[in-house]
Amino acid sequence: MSGFPNLRLRRVRRTPGIRAIFDLPFPGPEKFCWPMFVVPGHNKQEPIASMPGQFRWSVDRLAQAVEPVVAQGVGSVLLFGQTDRPKDNGGSGAWDERGPVQEAVRELKRHFPELTVMTDVCLCAYTHHGHCAPLRPDGALDNDAGCACLAKVALSHAAAGADCVAPSAMMDGQIAAIRAALAEEHFDDTLLMAYSTKFASACYGPFREAEGSAPGHVPGMPADRKGYQASYANARNACLESILDETEGADILMVKPALFYLDMIRRVREQTLLPVAAYNVSGEYAMLIATAERGWGDLGDLVRESTMGIVRAGADLIISYWASRYNDFFRR
Ligand code: PBG
Ligand code: ZN
Repeated sequence: MSGFPNLRLRRVRRTPGIRAIFDLPFPGPEKFCWPMFVVPGHNKQEPIASMPGQFRWSVDRLAQAVEPVVAQGVGSVLLFGQTDRPKDNGGSGAWDERGPVQEAVRELKRHFPELTVMTDVCLCAYTHHGHCAPLRPDGALDNDAGCACLAKVALSHAAAGADCVAPSAMMDGQIAAIRAALAEEHFDDTLLMAYSTKFASACYGPFREAEGSAPGHVPGMPADRKGYQASYANARNACLESILDETEGADILMVKPALFYLDMIRRVREQTLLPVAAYNVSGEYAMLIATAERGWGDLGDLVRESTMGIVRAGADLIISYWASRYNDFFRR
C-alpha cells in the first residue's frame, strides 16, 4: 500500500454523495424494538419524568400509542408492566393472566398481527422488596424459587400470544426453566430472548423510576442487584452467562446496557452464532436528552452517533427508546 501523497483518504469522505456510497447505512426500522410501559387502569398516558418523550400507557390507549410507531415500520415492541394488586414476596401479580402485560399482548396482536410482540419477564415490579426473585426468611435470594416464578410469568405471556419472552432477572437456570415450561405446554414457537449479559449498571435509574421497581432496603439484602446481575469488572463471567444461556435453550442473546458495553456486544457476537440483541437502556437515553437540553450537543447527532456504535459493534436487534422516533433520527 502506498502512502501520502498517492493515498489521500479524504477522497472517500470529501462530499456527502461520496460518503453516502461508502458509509454503513442505518439499519431499517424492522431491526429496532421499542420498549413500552403498560399500567393498570383506563385512559392513561402518563409522561415519565425521568424519560422525557416516553409514557406509561393503559391497555385501552396502547393501540393508539403503537400505531404511529408501526407506521414507521418498527418491527417489535418490548412490554414492561406494573400491577395494582398488592405486591408480595414472589411477585405473583406478574403471572396474573388478566394483568396489564398479558392484556396488552392480546390487544396488540389483535390490532397489529404483523408486529412482533416481546415481553420482559421479571418480578421486580411485582415484589414488595423490589428484587427480581423471592427472598427466603433469612433475606437471601431464593434463586430456584425465582426460576419457577419466572417460568409462570413467561407461560402467561406466551398463552396471551407473545411472540418472544425475555427474562431479565439474572437467576441461574432461568432459561432452562422457562424453555422446559414452554415445551411442556407446547409453546414450541415462542422465542426466548435471554438478557444474558446483563450488567449491574447505574444506567437503569430512569427505568426504575418509571416502573417503581428499585430494589428496596430489606434486612440482609443490599439495595442493589450486584448479587445477581453481572459485574462490569468481570467480562469473562459476563460472557459465560451468554454461553450458558445458549446451552439452556435461548434463541437470542442480549447485551445490556449497550453504549458502555460495546466491547461486550462484539465479544458475544464473536462467540455465538445466535442473533445478538443490544439494549440501549433508560440511563443512556436520559443522558443524551440531558446533554441536548443543556445545549452541549445536538440530540439527533448524538442519537445517530451512539446508535451507529451499537450497529458497528454487531447487534442484530436494537432495543431502543429512540425507536418510537425512527423517522426523526434514522430515516434516509
Ligand atoms: C428488570 C429490568 C430492568 C431493565 C429492564 N428490565 C431494570 C433492572 O434490572 O433494575 C432496565 C431497562 C432500562 O434501564 O431501560 N429486571
Ligand atoms: Zn427484575
